[in-house]
Amino acid sequence: MSADGWKTTEAATGEATGGAGEAPRERASEGTGGEAGGAVLRPHAEETFADELAALAAADDRPRPERWRLSPWAVATYLLGGTLPDGTVITPKYVGPRRLVEVAVTTLATDRALLLLGVPGTAKTWVSEHLAAAVSGDSTLLVQGTAGTPEEAIRYGWNYARLLAHGPGREALVPSPVMRAMARGATARVEELTRIPADVQDTLITILSEKTLPIPELGEEVQAVRGFNLIATANDRDRGVNDLSSALRRRFNTVVLPLPGTPDAEVEIVSRRVGQLGRSLDLPAVPEGLDEIRRVVTVFRELRDGVTEDGRTKVKSPSGTLSTAEAISVVTNGLALAAHFGDGVLRPGDVAAGLLGVVVRDPAADRVVWQEYLETVVRERDGWKDFYRACREVTA
Ligand SMILES: Nc1ncnc2c1ncn2[C@@H]1O[C@H](COP(=O)(O)OP(=O)(O)OP(=O)(O)O)[C@@H](O)[C@H]1O
Ligand SMILES: [Mg+2]
Repeated sequence: MSADGWKTTEAATGEATGGAGEAPRERASEGTGGEAGGAVLRPHAEETFADELAALAAADDRPRPERWRLSPWAVATYLLGGTLPDGTVITPKYVGPRRLVEVAVTTLATDRALLLLGVPGTAKTWVSEHLAAAVSGDSTLLVQGTAGTPEEAIRYGWNYARLLAHGPGREALVPSPVMRAMARGATARVEELTRIPADVQDTLITILSEKTLPIPELGEEVQAVRGFNLIATANDRDRGVNDLSSALRRRFNTVVLPLPGTPDAEVEIVSRRVGQLGRSLDLPAVPEGLDEIRRVVTVFRELRDGVTEDGRTKVKSPSGTLSTAEAISVVTNGLALAAHFGDGVLRPGDVAAGLLGVVVRDPAADRVVWQEYLETVVRERDGWKDFYRACREVTA
């Protein structure tokens, strides 16, 4: 009896789970459909700039490497901006030395892979995404490198349900983004290469030198077709964590992305990116906030360089990273504050709290550095009174 009772319960539970399990699954798939149809929070570069890419492709009469969507010249124009003969304006994505971009693009047309190196926030990820979008029309073949990245993420894995049901075969194989890029002749991306354990990194050596990915379980291989290449990014600060082996490094051409050379360049990058981000968040336009942006950039540069812009006063640098990327987020947060709690114009009070949060990472040491900078530099500066007061208010 009790056994029956168990059975009944089991059956009932089984049914209940089955029934309950199906409904959410349906809803989940509806949800996915809705997401795809609705406004995505952050579309891929090839979607955001589809019009520019199409205009470039139409105007581009230079030779294209096999399976490239654009010629190297057009890819560089896509990144650096320009005006096409028909008047179409291509917005600059990357602000920096033209030569670096030309070297990066050219590398992708050779048999060497591209390594973008630089301190945090120098647009390595950003450039890698846009290069893949312009060259292959697809920036999504991406492996995110972490300390836990397994070999399968770079080579291939297995769908175990299929493997058990049908045995090893192509249907049971789950190709990695790199494998898919090889088969399609597209651009693969590996983010944060130096965070990946050394033995897993070595998987890339065969791929990059032999241009093939063996699948011993099937006695097969996937050979890269023309058009395949790989862009990796790595952080300067991580160097030494899992340093690249010389064997792997030799497979890459390295392009070092610098911090913006001049204050004007940095102000341009910040206002341009804040403008783009602001539009997607329905925030007010930047122009009125330009003074504040200039101030944030000045503070960042001075604290980073350890000296004021006129070169007269030495200042101490705080422990955290003060890159362009942080400046962009301080200003974007400030704009959101101004929009929701102010009159829509970016003012010192809107950026002060964000600035403090970025500069003071270590509550003890960084606070001293910040206060010293406020009192010796900011306080004395012409036209910075409101800014000084706002900073004092949040620091106290
Ligand atoms: N020179 C530049 N030109 C255009 N945008 C820039 C430049 N420098 C920084 N940015 C902007 O900074 C932001 C951060 O860049 P990104 O995330 O690519 O940096 P990263 O180098 O990959 O940093 P991390 O090492 O932390 O991964 C992006 O929004 C990018 O647009
Ligand atoms: Mg990055």
